[in-house]
Amino acid sequence: MTLRQKIEHEIRERGPIPFSRYMEMCLYDPELGYYSRHAEQFGKAGDFYTSSDVHAVFGRLLVRQFDEMWRMLGSPKQIEIQELGPGRGLFAQDVLDWSQKKFAEFFHALHYSLEESSPALRTRLQATLSRHLGTGRASLGKGTTSIVPNHAQTSRALAPEVPVIVFANEFFDALPVEVLSSQGELRISLRNGRFVETWAPASVEELEFLDRYGVQPETAERVEVPLAAQDYMSRITAAVNCGFIVVIDYGYLREEQLAGRHRGTVTTFHQHAVSGNPYEAPGEHDISAHVNFTALAAAAEHNGIKTQPLLTQSQLLMGIGEKNQFADAFEECRLPQEKAKVALQLKHLVTPAGMGENFHVLVGSKCVDPEMVARLSGLSFGKSRLWQPAAQEG
Ligand SMILES: C[S@@+](CC[C@H](N)C(=O)[O-])C[C@H]1O[C@@H](n2cnc3c(N)ncnc32)[C@H](O)[C@@H]1O
Repeated sequence: MTLRQKIEHEIRERGPIPFSRYMEMCLYDPELGYYSRHAEQFGKAGDFYTSSDVHAVFGRLLVRQFDEMWRMLGSPKQIEIQELGPGRGLFAQDVLDWSQKKFAEFFHALHYSLEESSPALRTRLQATLSRHLGTGRASLGKGTTSIVPNHAQTSRALAPEVPVIVFANEFFDALPVEVLSSQGELRISLRNGRFVETWAPASVEELEFLDRYGVQPETAERVEVPLAAQDYMSRITAAVNCGFIVVIDYGYLREEQLAGRHRGTVTTFHQHAVSGNPYEAPGEHDISAHVNFTALAAAAEHNGIKTQPLLTQSQLLMGIGEKNQFADAFEECRLPQEKAKVALQLKHLVTPAGMGENFHVLVGSKCVDPEMVARLSGLSFGKSRLWQPAAQEG
């Protein structure tokens, strides 16, 4: 049975399905979903690049930041980095290798745990990280073939009292969203063997979400309601007793949406090209939606996390790397042409024309004085504040 047939079968059985269910099946059906089927989504031969595909300096700079965070926590004997959706594990590999080489004390305390749901990517992680998994420095969470976010495993590898740094790069944009228009909530139905869009009344929860964190769609407009991301953030931050969260993704603040941007952000990627039609080839294309950082920060704050003003990736990396002129990037370069190539890769990660301005960074902490946290090197370039955390809502 193809994935299209599987989805058609579900629609015949259940009636029109919510867009979030359609997206979930396309990405995470246990056998046929885009992420479950194979591990070739990333890099030049795949459909998209993430920062770790560009250069190891992304992970290396983050190690500097993690080491600072660990010191800020009082250099505890143990610290866990819990990475959500590590994909094929390049970031984890860069962090583990670089901390072993350059930050021995931090490495000694570190346990790196990986929460990856895709069976194919879990196999890839086992190969990429075999050395660190073998020594017990890293561990792979149990994972789940049922990717319904409510069933996702978010258990800690170490005891709950061990401080943790939760890290997620391009994770929340890959979680299923609901789509709303002035006609209601989007459902996917079948007509003459084709997927067609129909609309059902929006739920109270969805409408409340938009009142608090988004905008109500105007005629002919669509907006997303990322309830699965909210749920995931709530559960992951509820399990943090002491530590940090670092979330990097493309996304927006409510203010930007009020100003008319980021409305209808569901995007389909295939071989590095954007296609607007998620129904074309279910399971063959990546589907994602921009992250609502106002909502995500509120979910974290609700669980006692103090969030810092949102940064751009550019500000974060400039803040960490500027002090030593980004020496972490050039460590292995011997020839001038090697240096020139790495300089271009670094530029891609940092500059507005590359990934620097589209990607935003949410940093939060629990049991650490937020004023101290604001002095982390990665936050030092965040002078042009994009956003101040909203007062806690009831
Ligand atoms: C866009 S990829 C990002 C991969 C990686 N972070 C990077 O930057 O290259 C999203 C990843 O999240 C994983 N994922 C999605 N939902 C998940 C869940 N509930 N639990 C664990 N992993 C999940 C996917 O399988 C995929 O590997």
